[in-house]
Amino acid sequence: MTRGVRVLAVGVVMAAWALALMRSASAPRTAVTREALLESFADDMRDVVVEWSAGDPRPVRDRQLALFDFVYQTYESSAWIPQSLFDRNLITQAIVGDLETIVGQSVGLTLWRGNQTVPAFGIAPGTSPGEPLKWTVNCLVCHTAEIDGVAYFGAGTKTFDDKWLGEALKKMTGPNWRPLLARPGIDAAYAAEAHRILISHHHDKIDSLTRGRSTAFAASHVELYLRPNGRMPSVADVGRGDTKTPPLWHTTAKMQVRRWYSDGSFHGDFPLMASSMELEKDRPFDALITKVIPRIKEEFASVVQHLRPPEYPYGIDEALAAQGKTLFSSPEVGCSRCHGEYDGRGNVGWPGAHVDVGTDRARLEIVTPQFVSAFDQSPIADEGTLSRSRGYAATPLTGVWANFPYLHNGSVPTLHHLLGPVSERPRIFDVRAARNFDRERVGQQLYFDPSHAGTPPAGLLQLFRQNRDWFNVERPGCGNQGHDLWPRIRTDANRRALIEYLKTL
Ligand code: HEC
Ligand code: HEC
Repeated sequence: MTRGVRVLAVGVVMAAWALALMRSASAPRTAVTREALLESFADDMRDVVVEWSAGDPRPVRDRQLALFDFVYQTYESSAWIPQSLFDRNLITQAIVGDLETIVGQSVGLTLWRGNQTVPAFGIAPGTSPGEPLKWTVNCLVCHTAEIDGVAYFGAGTKTFDDKWLGEALKKMTGPNWRPLLARPGIDAAYAAEAHRILISHHHDKIDSLTRGRSTAFAASHVELYLRPNGRMPSVADVGRGDTKTPPLWHTTAKMQVRRWYSDGSFHGDFPLMASSMELEKDRPFDALITKVIPRIKEEFASVVQHLRPPEYPYGIDEALAAQGKTLFSSPEVGCSRCHGEYDGRGNVGWPGAHVDVGTDRARLEIVTPQFVSAFDQSPIADEGTLSRSRGYAATPLTGVWANFPYLHNGSVPTLHHLLGPVSERPRIFDVRAARNFDRERVGQQLYFDPSHAGTPPAGLLQLFRQNRDWFNVERPGCGNQGHDLWPRIRTDANRRALIEYLKTL
């Protein structure tokens, strides 16, 4: 069969299923109430690792409420995906797979195990009384991660593929499938609106090249430019700058210096570029001023600044870590000069160094004069300034064991590789393996499918060069060079001691 005929045939079969299912469809699930979500919240969060500052004077109940608001925040969203799109199970599976596969593996969200209502972190249900169930996404879709089966609140996602999610939603809300999937009436209207937004705010030339990496910062440029100009900026003017998502617990360290993001290009009290996530949902600047920015500021004050790094969950050799601490602060190795001094309880006096250590420059270079000018015309300019930096942040190393893969672009899978000779860093590794921790080298495992361990890198490159599931250092912005400390670390024993110390931060 030619491709066209096969697609048509599949279409006919699925349409037949759809009709059969529509007749048997059960009653629509109505919106969950805030009260119901709140009632099970403590239970739902029981197995989630959330470290909170001991210095927060508020009673536990108030902290829980603040956390609850953040976890289920919708910023009164303008873009909703109706549950009914997923309820037609068979068809949904034909398009994108069953719900568990879509959410956990293909999209790569952090599953919220044990929560009866919400399948994963970062998807928030609508709570308008009487309406059918609908969903939107929030900060936690990128800012929660799973490591060895445990959900770590505030850790940067390792596996989320925003391009995959966008494409799947576009397909399901598009003119071919929407009429079959969404219930007629309000659900169909939400789906049509979501489709319009997905199409009109998607700049496909700046999609991240790899799962688990994000072009969120470059996407802010697109959104800020769109408002006054009514069209997208050109690809050449935006660039790409794929980065990993950093952890939210760096906030407390960075507040001392007021420079934000991997390159420190945003100067202000809080990293409010995050608000452009809502611009991507087609909101006007007015809504940013009245609804989004004030709420995000409140959330930084009530939740984000109180987050601390999670403790290393496995054994630590204390004697070896003590040797590492000495090396870390020694004049010969000199890590603390750039990275600061740590108290071992999740706090750091962060010097705020932003230096060029020879790592990939693509992300620095997306802060163009045109981006700065679009920023200056936006309401975010009231909250800070944007200017190109000479180098990346010598990031706080609090909770660094959980911040893998390393460097701003996540190009180095483990601390062992980062602190060793540059030539020994892997040139290709499987991003899906980042759910599993490597205790020996501290970071992510390299292969999702163990049989790949036997294939030499050249062979893997040949097979997976273009594959979004694989991080490949030959792609633009994905270089793994720089931050070469091996000449100062010199021996494997020193490297081991430093890694042991880093586990304690
Ligand atoms: C699509 C994924 C995504 C979403 C959604 C998202 N972020 Fe982020 N966030 C990122 C990425 C990627 C970075 C790093 C950007 C860079 O440096 O290029 C980041 C950086 C940050 C930082 C760290 C800044 C620093 O200097 O260490 C904070 C804090 C933050 N985001 C908060 C938020 C909040 C609050 C929200 C919700 C309003 C949010 N983010 C939504 C991906 C996301
Ligand atoms: C000259 C300043 C400087 C020195 C000295 C230095 N670093 Fe860094 N470090 C940086 C910068 C800048 C980055 C971020 C580079 C990037 O993201 O591209 C970084 C990144 C890192 C990261 C990755 C963090 C993450 O979350 O991805 C680790 C780990 C790290 N450094 C550890 C060390 C250790 C251990 C030492 C001492 C052996 C050291 N650094 C010495 C500047 C320095």
